[in-house]
Amino acid sequence: MEFLDLPPLLGASGRVRLPGSKSISNRTLLLAALSEGETDIRDLLASDDVERMLEALRVLGVEWSCDGESDNYRVRGVGGPFPVKAADLFLGNAGTAFRPLTAALALSGGEYRLSGVPRMHERPIGDLVDGLRQIGADIGYAGNDGFPPLHIRPATIRPGGVVRVRGDVSSQFLTALLMALPLTGVETTVEVVGELISKPYIGITLDLMARFGVVVRREGWERFIVPGAARYRSPGVIFVEGDASSASYFLAAGAIGGGPVRVEGVGRGSIQGDVRFAEALEQLGARIDMGDNWIEARAPEGARLKAFDLDLNHIPDAAMTLAVAALFADGPCRLRNIASWRVKETDRIAAMANELRKVGATVEEGPDYLCVTAPARLVPAAIDTYDDHRMAMCFSLVSLGDCRVRINDPKCVNKTFPTYFARFGEVTRPVPVVAIDGPSASGKGTVAARVAEALGYHCLDSGSLYRLVALAAMRAGVSFDDEPALAGLAATLPARFTDGRVFLGGEDVTDAIRTEEASVGASKVAVLADVRAALLDRQREYRHAPGLVAEGRDMGSVVFPDAGTKIFLTATAQARAERRYKQLMEKGMAANMQSLLKDLQDRDARDAARPVAPLQKLPDAALLDTTEMDVEQAVGFVLDRVRS
Ligand code: DC
Repeated sequence: MEFLDLPPLLGASGRVRLPGSKSISNRTLLLAALSEGETDIRDLLASDDVERMLEALRVLGVEWSCDGESDNYRVRGVGGPFPVKAADLFLGNAGTAFRPLTAALALSGGEYRLSGVPRMHERPIGDLVDGLRQIGADIGYAGNDGFPPLHIRPATIRPGGVVRVRGDVSSQFLTALLMALPLTGVETTVEVVGELISKPYIGITLDLMARFGVVVRREGWERFIVPGAARYRSPGVIFVEGDASSASYFLAAGAIGGGPVRVEGVGRGSIQGDVRFAEALEQLGARIDMGDNWIEARAPEGARLKAFDLDLNHIPDAAMTLAVAALFADGPCRLRNIASWRVKETDRIAAMANELRKVGATVEEGPDYLCVTAPARLVPAAIDTYDDHRMAMCFSLVSLGDCRVRINDPKCVNKTFPTYFARFGEVTRPVPVVAIDGPSASGKGTVAARVAEALGYHCLDSGSLYRLVALAAMRAGVSFDDEPALAGLAATLPARFTDGRVFLGGEDVTDAIRTEEASVGASKVAVLADVRAALLDRQREYRHAPGLVAEGRDMGSVVFPDAGTKIFLTATAQARAERRYKQLMEKGMAANMQSLLKDLQDRDARDAARPVAPLQKLPDAALLDTTEMDVEQAVGFVLDRVRS
């Protein structure tokens, strides 16, 4: 399983240019295809769902071209129903392609088969089919009744009068009908049965239809009159707004991580309902500023986000972001009227509840609501994403809680935002790590501790973990080549570091892990891949705000490859042996210069030759040779690197 590890973050600020809106992109493509004339579409979203629509249009006889590398497309409209009268379309999990194409094809007088991924075949479409059948469309279910795949056959369409469609499962059924009805040329009234959900999405549909020349008369949210003799006409050029749902992750990042974070591409002038996510964030205490084409979010003045209890029916997609923002609120939070989550890319209520619990939240799940209470401290977890782009993007925000998080299958963001994680990285600041690697007795420990003190950072002496494993093994009579037993010891090591002392269980073993025997043992257990793997997460746990200085052999290469500062600290073997000799003498311990030197050289050789995490100077590490330096100078060198 592919995954992406996000480090704990200190905060978020900066600017993001949003990708185009998925809802606007796919609606615009279909309207341009059905129009008379050519349409230049600027800033079209480049993503899986839009790809599915583009592919389908080409198969259906619509010519389009893309100008090179840009997101600008030209669509040559067919000026009515699709000219290709037989086609087999695969539409992935793109609801915004599947529903509107179903309606447009049902009125195109051809034979078409529409299918998608297995999840698409679990997402209801019966209400739309029922609506279309009322005017004579011939649509059959090729699998389960009420669900894709569909088989459309030519039929005599009898438009006019009133078509009734349910509006309480998905607003996309109404959108699909409204966009297709102008193909009939006859005035038709659509009446919504049941409470219409996600109303702002219908607003997007009506706005775009009007730009393409068809003005629908609306009576409340119950009746929509599509005029007769109305034909779609290209507006010439049309710009796709930035995606307001995608904006929600960055605005939340600003509200949680200090900010300001500014998104560009949506603002006051937006036709997307999800811009109202900004109002919801404001109710949580976030400070919001807005221009015509941008929105900016900052954290509440000196406080956590406020707990909330909100009806979120009007912003179903962006509301998911609030479920994760609840992890940063000062009390239990309630998200109400979100039943449509259950029929989206996955059952989002269930998925959200599962994953929020993994990071420590207390979650109550109802048929159409979620109640989320944040834990005192977030717990690092591997988040499953259920092939749902929004799950992946939402949970990236956990990292703003000074908590590392693993996102499984991160590529699912391709559905609407292929570059999401790169953009997220650009506006967030990871908890900094100073990685100091080098051979035994090079003075790393002393330098690392002094640097950590100067910066106010935490400090990790990773060698002591290997020493503890060796000591625990000696005590338990486990041999240094019994890899499974050693890995078991490493995984459950009852180690504790307090006030410069090292404890194993209740016992102070600060000196015991420094004997030559423990040193040799440590370098033996350290060659074992399973031991190293067992210690990996434990080491990463030390990364917390405001920062970490980590010293060892593989801090910069394996444990913290994203460390902002990497140092390779070394000295000649002779100089190191002399320092060690002096230390031991000072402690009144027996020592022999020759054997110390030999031990060091053997250990260097073992550390450098082992196949897993060998000691090496990375190309991006600064070399610090302390043979001729004192501690002050070495510390000064590292601090200079950190500050520059
Ligand atoms: O840094 P030290 O001398 O305390 O390390 C003890 C042993 O542990 C040494 O032989 C190398 C090994 N070690 C390692 O393999 N990887 C680390 N990150 C730290 C230490």
